[in-house]
Amino acid sequence: MARKVSKRKRPSKDDFLLKERFKLESEVFDRQTLLALSKLIGKGILSTIDYPVSTGKEANVFRATTPSGSFIAVKIYKIETTHFMRRKEYLEGDPRFKKFRRTERDLVSAFAQKEFKNLQICERAKVHAPQPLLQEKNILLMEFLGEEGYPYSQLNVLGPESISQLKSILLDMRRMYRAGLVHADISEYNILVGPKPYLIDFGQGVVLSHPSAEKYLERDVCNIVNYFAKFGFKMGMEESLEYIKS
Ligand SMILES: Nc1ncnc2c1ncn2[C@@H]1O[C@H](COP(=O)(O)OP(=O)(O)OP(=O)(O)O)[C@@H](O)[C@H]1O
Ligand SMILES: [Mg+2]
Repeated sequence: MARKVSKRKRPSKDDFLLKERFKLESEVFDRQTLLALSKLIGKGILSTIDYPVSTGKEANVFRATTPSGSFIAVKIYKIETTHFMRRKEYLEGDPRFKKFRRTERDLVSAFAQKEFKNLQICERAKVHAPQPLLQEKNILLMEFLGEEGYPYSQLNVLGPESISQLKSILLDMRRMYRAGLVHADISEYNILVGPKPYLIDFGQGVVLSHPSAEKYLERDVCNIVNYFAKFGFKMGMEESLEYIKS
């Protein structure tokens, strides 16, 4: 007896890969994020999301391409994370974000908005940081810091090279302070090394009227001065703090 041939096509390798890709994408992008991204594509702001540069606890960062072919960085703050609840202190003391936010989604979008506004301050103050391009809900578009399509490495990967790198970071912190802003999360992980060190990850940055602004500034200086000191590039803590505030 002839065996019945199943009409159903066996899934090919491509089908399998497509399915896996969809699974991956739906894990990375929730429905509303996908919708917001497709709107950005529809408006001609983005043309493709190319690859994840970093997948972290609070955000994923992608390299994307614009219709004119240039690269940009797309940072997508994760909605489902609980980490933001713990970081509420950075929002609550900042007069720009006084309004109480009800949902987790609103809170996450507020961090994206905060990072965008902080990057705008940095741009005006000529701080080495990515140029902000657009913020829509939990999505932030900014300048892609990299070379030939590859992102610059973080300082913790390369290690410090010279005291002039530290001086450049302190000068940027001084420019920020003069513009009324404290980063509040400076470490070797939030610095990318290009021709100069670039500060990134401004979601926690606060304005000087935040009750803990001075405490955060001291912590930032402590983190970066101690890190460089471990590699023999030494600057005094007090001296560095005075320099930033002068
Ligand atoms: N503008 C950019 N250009 C190129 N790469 C970037 C840019 N912004 C961020 N990255 C890359 O993405 C990584 C994570 O970015 P960022 O520090 O802003 O996110 P994060 O809030 O620390 O995320 P998480 O805490 O979830 O890890 C960076 O270490 C860097 O490698
Ligand atoms: Mg970071």
